[in-house]
This record gives sequence, C-alpha cells and structure tokens, in this order.
Amino acid sequence: MYTQAMDTMAREGGARLEKVLSADEQALQGRFDARIDAGDFVEAKDWMPDNYRKTLLRQISQHAHSEIVGMLPEGNWISRAPTLKRKAILLAKVQDEGGHGLYLYAAAETLGTSRDQMLDALHSGKAKYSSIFNYPTLSWADVGTIGWLVDGAAIMNQVPICRCSYAPYARAMIRICREESFHQRQGYDSLLVMMRDGTDAQRAMVQDAVNRWWWPCLMMFGPPDDQSPNSAQGMRWGIKRVSNDTLRQKFVDACVQQAQVLGVTLPDPDLKWNEARQHWDFGAIDWDEFWRVVGGEGPCNRERLAARVKAWDDGAWVREAALAHANKQAMKEAA
Ligand SMILES: [Fe+2]
Ligand SMILES: [Fe+2]
Repeated sequence: MYTQAMDTMAREGGARLEKVLSADEQALQGRFDARIDAGDFVEAKDWMPDNYRKTLLRQISQHAHSEIVGMLPEGNWISRAPTLKRKAILLAKVQDEGGHGLYLYAAAETLGTSRDQMLDALHSGKAKYSSIFNYPTLSWADVGTIGWLVDGAAIMNQVPICRCSYAPYARAMIRICREESFHQRQGYDSLLVMMRDGTDAQRAMVQDAVNRWWWPCLMMFGPPDDQSPNSAQGMRWGIKRVSNDTLRQKFVDACVQQAQVLGVTLPDPDLKWNEARQHWDFGAIDWDEFWRVVGGEGPCNRERLAARVKAWDDGAWVREAALAHANKQAMKEAA
C-alpha cells in the first residue's frame, strides 16, 4: 500500500527547506528533471536531488515496515486455520509478506541508509507503517477478508509503483505485485467457500468481518487529493503515478461487483451507481479515525510495535552468531 506514507508528511510537521544549489548542482538537477520528464528510470548510483532521495527512502522503508508488521494480524491465525489446505496457503502468504519486506529493505538500502537504521526508526516509533495493520483479526473470516480487501487495495496502490522512476523500487514491485494477486485470490476464494457452502453462522462471520474492514481499507489510499499536499511533488518525480482519490474510486468500483458475487453487503448506505460519472458513489470516510490510528491510537498500535521489538530482541543471538561466523570466515580467508 502504502503510498499514504508520503501524504501524511505535512500533517507530521515534515516541512522541507529547499537548499540553495551550486551551479554544478543546478546542471545536475536540470539533467535529472529532463530524465524524469522523458520517463527514464533512475538507478542507485545516479545523481538525485536530496529530497527525492529522502522521499523515496521514507516511502520504501515505510512500505517495508508495513509488509513486516502486516505479518502479525494474519500470523495470529496460522495455528487455528480450519484445514491443512488453508493453513498451508496462509503460511505461504505470511511468508511472502516477510519476503516483500526483505526486498524492500534491500531497495531502500541502495539509497544509503542501513537496515539497522530503518529498523531502529520503526522500533522507536519514528517511522510509520500502514495504519490498516493496527486493526485486530477477530475471526477466521478476517483472514479471507484481509486477502480480498487489504491485499486488493494493496494491489491497486502498488501496480502503478511498478513504473516508479526509481528503478530498484520499481523492480521489487513487479515481483511483489505478482504475489499480492495470489494473496487477493486466496482470500476471496476462502470467503466464497464460506458464503456458498458454509453455515448461517459462517456467513454472518464473513459479513461481520467485511463490516469491520471495509472503511479502514478505503483509508489505505491516503487522505483526499485536496488534503494531500505532497502528492503533486511525488507525481512530478514519477514516484506516484495515480492520485489517492482515483485509486480509491477504482477500488470501490471493483469491490462492488465482487461483493455481489460473494453475497455480502458493503457497509455503506450511500453506495450508489452514478450513471453520469460511470462510477459508484460512496459515503464519507471518517478521517478523524484515520488520523487517530496514524497517530498511534488505533486498537492494536502498541501491541504491534511491542511484537516487533520483542522479535528483534529475541533474534539478537542469531545476528551475533551470524556475525561471528562471518568474521571467522573472513579471518580464514585472510590467512
Ligand atoms: Fe505484501
Ligand atoms: Fe499481500
């Protein structure tokens, strides 16, 4: 997801000061702008403006954190999956998310910040991750709903990033998007089985999960375009390709039909086909809730962060052992 990361910057007081460029830097900047305008990709070793580097680093590291923290809500259900087949699928999916985090940390490292620094920012609460993962998974139907709606929203957000101007990020996203589409399909399939072959209680469980996840999923696209001051710069740099509101509308349009096939009701009385716009109209999003969760006051913010910090602390011996082994190998080679 996770383009919203960029858009929340102004709200977090991240105003940028433009520095005065030397003549050399102005020439480099001119060449950089021309390449972006021509649709060229930027590689790690190419010259880039400081703010382009900072914006990307922020976005890619927050995206990486979201993948890793995103393993927690669903990981909660691995030991309680209803069948061996569902357990194998869920294990594979959660493992994929860990892999996404690793590709993305590697892509962010090409911008000159170490993984330790990025993780430190996460653990100290300085760095953000997608607010969607601060909601709890209360029933098995939440796992299918996350696949259908959360991974579905992630795909909408991430497909345009495959054409991001920063090539290492764009390359990572191509593989990630292929896996995300499996995630979306497995979630939808799991819900379809419950809705078609399940009991009334299972159908009610699916509807309850959809009721709780629908609105937070619409928030995943970030604030409305007119309250998203950094979007224009992101678009100018070719980091962001499609606006928040356009992506959100695309998501709603796709989900309405999918909900009809499933037989669930999307929890929005204002959802109505608009013949003139050729899109579905939808109700007002509770942006106060969004900012509360971004600000750390969601239902699971503290629990999620504590789980990550604990995993980091518990893994200290593995890092020490790996480092000791690497040092021993290096000494052997030197001898
Ligand atoms: Fe992912
Ligand atoms: Fe996913």
